[in-house]
Amino acid sequence: MNVYDSSRMADVLAPHGYGMVESPDGADMVILNTCHIREKAAEKVYSELGRLRLRKQAREAIGEKMIIAVAGCVAQAEGEEIIRRADCVDMVFGPQTYHRLPEMIERANRAVGAKVVDTDFPAEDKFDFLPDHAVNPGVTAFLSVQEGCDKFCSFCVVPYTRGAEQSRPVAAIEAEAMRLVEAGAREITLLGQNVNAYHGVGPGGDEWGLGRLIERLAARGVQRIRYTTSHPRDMDDALIAAHRDVPQLMPYLHLPVQSGSDRILTMMNRKHDSDDYRRIVERIRDARPDIALSSDFIVGFPGETDRDFADTLRLISDIGFAQAYSFKYSPRPGTPAAAEDGHVPETVKEDRLATLQQLLRAQQSSFNEAFRGARMSVLFDRPGRRPGQLAGRTGYLQAVHAAAPTRLIGAVVDCDIVDIRPTSMEGVVDTDWQDQDGPDQDNLETRTHTERAIA
Ligand code: 5AD
Ligand code: SF4
Repeated sequence: MNVYDSSRMADVLAPHGYGMVESPDGADMVILNTCHIREKAAEKVYSELGRLRLRKQAREAIGEKMIIAVAGCVAQAEGEEIIRRADCVDMVFGPQTYHRLPEMIERANRAVGAKVVDTDFPAEDKFDFLPDHAVNPGVTAFLSVQEGCDKFCSFCVVPYTRGAEQSRPVAAIEAEAMRLVEAGAREITLLGQNVNAYHGVGPGGDEWGLGRLIERLAARGVQRIRYTTSHPRDMDDALIAAHRDVPQLMPYLHLPVQSGSDRILTMMNRKHDSDDYRRIVERIRDARPDIALSSDFIVGFPGETDRDFADTLRLISDIGFAQAYSFKYSPRPGTPAAAEDGHVPETVKEDRLATLQQLLRAQQSSFNEAFRGARMSVLFDRPGRRPGQLAGRTGYLQAVHAAAPTRLIGAVVDCDIVDIRPTSMEGVVDTDWQDQDGPDQDNLETRTHTERAIA
């Protein structure tokens, strides 16, 4: 979501003469778009600000200005406190106010030392004020359809930093998707903190769920569709049916479960137990037997015992994940779990995380191994590691590198998988494809989301 928000900030600023640069050196403004989900992410902001302060001073010494802004969820959560801790910061604004950036910059420029803090949840919808995409989206693009969360898991800051759940209208999403496709996007990932709780207003004034939205975007010509991140409770029948009926919907689902212990799931206020999760996965696999499942896990939640942790390992063994993200529990200010007793010692968290990750890594490699020698459809989206190579993704989101001409960037190409490595696979492009024209290259941006975000 932060990658998407950063690119929308660039869209807002483009008409005002700002363009993205590859490094903060010589930049007129640096915006740190921040994440508050775990303490480590939040603390990184302050170490980065320490480095930026020196650059700002160096620029001021030669009579140049540099605006330093902190955006995103750390800004939302900490507000003015950021300026108190780091007085080099000129602007602090949350995820819901970045459409006001031009006005904020004007205020920051009005007087020497002027500070701007905007952490409102404004009545107006920022999407109504964002201009069309000015920055090239690339072959794979993000599109925000829903923001915020009403689930209030007891460990999580999202409901406080991103606010209440809000869904964008279908027509606005469709229009943005069509602009992305025209600009060269072949794959669109629909985003939301709780994306499958999507309930936007349809063109006829009725309410649409995510399954129906996906069907519509597929019918409008989006070649590949993904969505993230989902809550198990919101996997409704229409969405599961979309996995069966919509070939453009990729066979990959990130469905966080967090823990396999019912006791811990209750304390987490997850609103599902481990058997609910097993049943949901069964229904999804009935609809799309080859689906690759991904999840999030937290180890060392307050009160987690060895037995609870064993339940998590058992759930992982039962389900079988194609890949996953796992974290040590990190107490977050203002969340109910942070005030609980029974915090688990750091060394125990570390041991459990290592055990969990070993199991998940083994599952990931056996998932990938199954494709050795298989022919797979790969969407090439960027140059590969070595000259003459391209990199892309399979439907299951596996990274593939293959020797291929640049004109195939933006094409979905048949590749034979000849080698499997820990984080990627090596493919050989089918000979038919070597001679075919790729898509029109005029608009294609070949950097990845992450590269663009860093830039
Ligand atoms: N500590 C550790 N992990 C967390 N997550 C969210 N809050 C915390 C926390 N306080 C993880 C969850 C979530 C993912 C985005 O981050 O697993 O699904
Ligand atoms: Fe946080 Fe996800 Fe729970 Fe919402 S559903 S509170 S975003 S972990």
